[in-house]
Amino acid sequence: MVIYFSGTGNSLAIARSIAAATNEQVLPLTQAVREDLTSEKRIGLVYPSYDFNVPPAVRTLVPKLQINARAYVFIIIPCGAQAGNSSWTVRKLLQAKGIRVAYTHKIRVPDNSAIVFGRNPNDQKWKFRRFASRLQTIIDDVKAERHAYHYSWWSPLAWVMGTRRMEEWMLRTFRPAVNESKCIGCGICVKMCPMRNIAIDEKAGIGPHCTACLACLHACPQQAIEAGGKPTIKERQYCHPDIKRSDLSAK
Ligand SMILES: Cc1cc2nc3c(=O)[nH]c(=O)nc-3n(C[C@H](O)[C@H](O)[C@H](O)COP(=O)(O)O)c2cc1C
Ligand code: SF4
Ligand code: SF4
Repeated sequence: MVIYFSGTGNSLAIARSIAAATNEQVLPLTQAVREDLTSEKRIGLVYPSYDFNVPPAVRTLVPKLQINARAYVFIIIPCGAQAGNSSWTVRKLLQAKGIRVAYTHKIRVPDNSAIVFGRNPNDQKWKFRRFASRLQTIIDDVKAERHAYHYSWWSPLAWVMGTRRMEEWMLRTFRPAVNESKCIGCGICVKMCPMRNIAIDEKAGIGPHCTACLACLHACPQQAIEAGGKPTIKERQYCHPDIKRSDLSAK
């Protein structure tokens, strides 16, 4: 089983590739926490790096997973550049449940948070350049059930970024807001939000359980969802090229 958490499709695309090559199924993390996975012999976790650490939702949900301590567990981090402590943190969360992670790696993909700083994630396609060879390495390692920690050390900077205070800062910076003058109440963002954190009352309204995945911001057809105090520009909205927005709709 390959479990993923994904806002803009990078993690889902990677989870699907690994699952296809290893005859596994994919499952969103939000659904995996409701299932008994103790009979699974191989468990993958694919989730993005946020601020050198893990998305708040991953930190909350991973401890709820029911998985077998004898399973081969691997973690893959799709990230813009730096994975930081993102696999270390989950290794420790699982270790506290008596589960030892066997293998970790990271893989560079376009950075969906670039939009918050006014940059275009779609201009970063060069990041896919070394993608295929890294993905193949990961697949070969997972198939052979190798044990190795790549990019999974503890770093003090990343630790600071993962403290509650920094996590709150991160959420303040990246948490999107609805520009009501642009919203047409179509409900697409409601379907996209993995946290079921958006409601519609004529206009969309974002609730308190945001994990800053930016799925809603990248998917809104009116560019009505904004973050970092900047208007959202259509050309900068990103979704992994192999993933349809409907694939990402909250299950
Ligand atoms: C709130 C936020 C913080 C991020 N922080 C980092 C980071 O610290 N390092 C990094 O390399 N990429 C960072 N990224 C980029 C994502 O890790 C990257 O785009 C990832 O592939 C997104 O996965 P997804 O498409 O499955 O949602 C961040 C993205 C978001 C939304
Ligand atoms: S997707 Fe955009 S336009 Fe549609 S309801 Fe959400 S914020 Fe409004
Ligand atoms: S409100 Fe938007 S950014 Fe926040 S969790 Fe939902 S989809 Fe992600």
